[in-house]
Amino acid sequence: MDYVLVIDFGGQYAHLITRRVRDLGVYSEFLNAESASLEEIREAIKGARGVILSGGPSSVWEGKHDHIARIVVEEGKPALGICYGHQLLAKILGGSVGKAVKPEFGPTIVSVKAREDPLFNGIPETIVAWMSHNDAVLQPPQEAVVLASSHGSPIAAFRHGAVYGVQWHPEVVHTMFGLKLIENWLKLVGVERNWRPEHMVDKLVESIREAVGDGIAIAAVSGGVDSTTASLLAKKALGDRLIPVMIDHGLHPAGEPWRSVELLKKIGLEVEVVDASNRFFEALRGLTDPEEKRRVFGRVYAEILEEVAESHKAEYLVQGTIYPDIIESGRRPGASVIKTHHNVAGLPGEFKLKLVEPLKWFYKDEVRRIAFKLGVPKEIIKRQPIPGPALAVRVEGEVTREKVEVVRKADAIVREEIESEGLHDRLWQYFAVLLNSKATGVKGDNRVYGHVIAVRAVLSVDAMTASVARLQWDLLERISSRITSEVPGVVRVVYDITSKPPATIEWE
Ligand code: XMP
Repeated sequence: MDYVLVIDFGGQYAHLITRRVRDLGVYSEFLNAESASLEEIREAIKGARGVILSGGPSSVWEGKHDHIARIVVEEGKPALGICYGHQLLAKILGGSVGKAVKPEFGPTIVSVKAREDPLFNGIPETIVAWMSHNDAVLQPPQEAVVLASSHGSPIAAFRHGAVYGVQWHPEVVHTMFGLKLIENWLKLVGVERNWRPEHMVDKLVESIREAVGDGIAIAAVSGGVDSTTASLLAKKALGDRLIPVMIDHGLHPAGEPWRSVELLKKIGLEVEVVDASNRFFEALRGLTDPEEKRRVFGRVYAEILEEVAESHKAEYLVQGTIYPDIIESGRRPGASVIKTHHNVAGLPGEFKLKLVEPLKWFYKDEVRRIAFKLGVPKEIIKRQPIPGPALAVRVEGEVTREKVEVVRKADAIVREEIESEGLHDRLWQYFAVLLNSKATGVKGDNRVYGHVIAVRAVLSVDAMTASVARLQWDLLERISSRITSEVPGVVRVVYDITSKPPATIEWE
């Protein structure tokens, strides 16, 4: 299949490049320059229709990635360098890179000098572009044409044969005409824009078949869209050699896991439910640190999966890990660990099962399209994501059965009220969190000192960023009064009005 390769040099926005190219209907793969072997990189470059070199924190002085840029140029691939990638390509082609006269961070005015160049088709002469650099291209490569400039980077864009470089970040929404520039570049590459995530079904099934051979796999299902989709793909690949397993850890939201078990049965996934709530509460007892809680949850979860696998003589574990999980767990070298997602970094190093993660390069909305193609019921496709450790990360501090019951009841009220307003389809997630602090209230004629519930509702496309849902006051007041009157021990309800970033979606 035709693809555009994105080589990631550790840039903050590198993953967005792949995202944009895919949104434009071209399959794109992402390869990290530090973790991939040179052979892998060479093969991927050779096979690609075009290559994008991302930004990154290094300086081209260090010479760390010269060999990679050289392969791109020697292979004669159409290329687009962004920020660090722009400087790297300029250097390899004989230009010079040095400290910028004026480092540029944030919105920057760029003057397009060569509007006749197809890269700038439909883009005005002056744009505001997102920049983030200390170094700059000071001398263009010989025979290169300078296409744009800004105050701090006189050579803000150049063309040298099939190679383009831009100092700014077209992948960032704050850059005017950024998507247009990427679209223009894809036209120059000549790649057809007909890729859709749902076209990947056969390839994904085949890759699972290849990975598992004639082995046996268990699949960890939660009832969410990711694990259901991964399990269905594995079911297609392996038939009866796939055993879907649901671990009942006692931390599910109200009505679960049984509602999911019923739904999954309808689409041919007969799930084995393992009752393990005592083990989880026991292991979580006394733990208050969020990362510690996730790690311990992950360890117990992994132990149980290993036991179940052993009982079925399975060597493989199919998981619904998706791309944001990988990025946020810091599996990509150079990216800092934001949270330990139990289904990724939480697995112990000595984990015995071999992982099969067919969805690990897809964003949530892409997974939803694949799910739709596979006939997954709408209720599952539209279901809001639940973190792997479920309500354990929605109870701040120590997790006890009593506290889980409080947050479960409050959460059910939040869901009921929001869904009865028909807002379900419009929101990414909405839930309740039990805070670690207590507050004073008056119930009847008595002063009480009780729990505080935070309500969170956000809008998002792929959970990488999120904005606060502006719920109506009437709705919020109804939620608050129902929680304080129906959930014993709760005296106060607050609404979280923080976007991501700077906050994350979950509280822990
Ligand atoms: P944050 O809180 O990092 O969440 O902004 C981003 C998305 O990921 C979900 N999430 C998790 N999913 N295991 C998961 O499988 C986890 O440990 C986990 N923590 C957060 C979160 O609900 C949101 O949709």
